[in-house]
Amino acid sequence: MIPFVINELAIPANLAAEIPPGSSPSSPAADFIEMTRVRNEIEAEMVGSDDLAVEPGELLPGWLDHYSPKRLFVARVDGRIVARGIHEAQSGDSVRSAWLSVEVLSAYRRQGIGTALHRRVAEIARSEGRTVLQSFVLHVLGGGGERIDSPTGFGSVSAHDDSTRFLLSHGYRLAQVERMSRLILPLTFGLPSPAPGYDLLFWRGPTPAERRAQLAVLHAGMSTDVPLGELDYEPEEWDATRVKLLDERTVGDGRRMLTVAARHRASDTLVGFTQLSVPVDDARAVFQENTIVVGAHRGHGLGLAMKLENLTELRQAGGAFRHVYTWNAEENRHMLAVNEALGFEPVGYSGSWRREL
Ligand SMILES: CC(C)(COP(=O)(O)OP(=O)(O)OC[C@H]1O[C@@H](n2cnc3c(N)ncnc32)[C@H](O)[C@@H]1OP(=O)(O)O)[C@@H](O)C(=O)NCCC(=O)NCCS
Repeated sequence: MIPFVINELAIPANLAAEIPPGSSPSSPAADFIEMTRVRNEIEAEMVGSDDLAVEPGELLPGWLDHYSPKRLFVARVDGRIVARGIHEAQSGDSVRSAWLSVEVLSAYRRQGIGTALHRRVAEIARSEGRTVLQSFVLHVLGGGGERIDSPTGFGSVSAHDDSTRFLLSHGYRLAQVERMSRLILPLTFGLPSPAPGYDLLFWRGPTPAERRAQLAVLHAGMSTDVPLGELDYEPEEWDATRVKLLDERTVGDGRRMLTVAARHRASDTLVGFTQLSVPVDDARAVFQENTIVVGAHRGHGLGLAMKLENLTELRQAGGAFRHVYTWNAEENRHMLAVNEALGFEPVGYSGSWRREL
């Protein structure tokens, strides 16, 4: 067995300010940067490309989000980070579940590192009174062989990859399968006419102040109106302040957020929105973020219209972006139908797993 040491990392408030040129490589910022490299390396191996790689500065805002507090552990071998473990929970007293993630560089697997990190993270969940542990994991693409079906009846994951073997050995069961899809740009068709009675609003970066409260309602819907399979998830609490804080955090992450919202003209209310997170470098992938249309306004083509509008804004903003990635529950037929109409194609599957503590 290889000797390893597990430490909790302090999350740096700011990366640039904390690493003066030539500084020693052991500061919260330097550790965070090294952790990001390990994360990217593990993900690239599973996806087969660097498309999902993120810069440390892009990752950091999520770690500073007090609405879903996170703790970060790393395992080191000879001083070098080779694995990470994450504990994350929604804030709120009634929350029963915690999310965790354990990732180990492939050269260091089957040495007990994953189990040791899992133990640390599960201890936190237990000490905070959580009764359910959940984990969202990418599964290796392709390959034949035995599969495990989602309990929703839609989708499956390989029964034999490292993730599945590890999770089964730790008492987890599959709760849902998500499809990872990729759209290759440019689009080959134009905009449909907007549905009568609705306008599409577009903004880049922070939400206009007068729309924050309405956007908060839509964000809350993302935690209640999307299919959750057998996952345990509390409705999120959103208000205008949370939207403002989210915008403030993400404005410094080096990516641009493009938002299209659908406005119901008669009530001047936002009834849906969709977002694209765009990197500076157009050789990198664009990520599709939230998309929702509230129940009473579904069936008017707003989902497709909003997404098309945002992809058009992306093209008009310049750059030769090639790839957009999105994740959707495999049973979410309405969203998948919109994405398929745009030209998204499945490139992989993620599993959401759970176990009782
Ligand atoms: C899953 C992962 C974290 C396991 O890390 P690890 O350090 O190899 O885990 P451990 O050495 O503690 O393995 C614990 C047990 O899991 C099972 N296991 C793990 N990988 C396995 C494999 N390839 N085949 C069969 N069983 C496996 C075994 O029961 C193993 O115990 P054993 O080695 O005594 O037989 C690692 O493969 C990884 O990072 N995968 C990508 C990310 C991921 O899927 N994370 C899981 C979600 S939290």
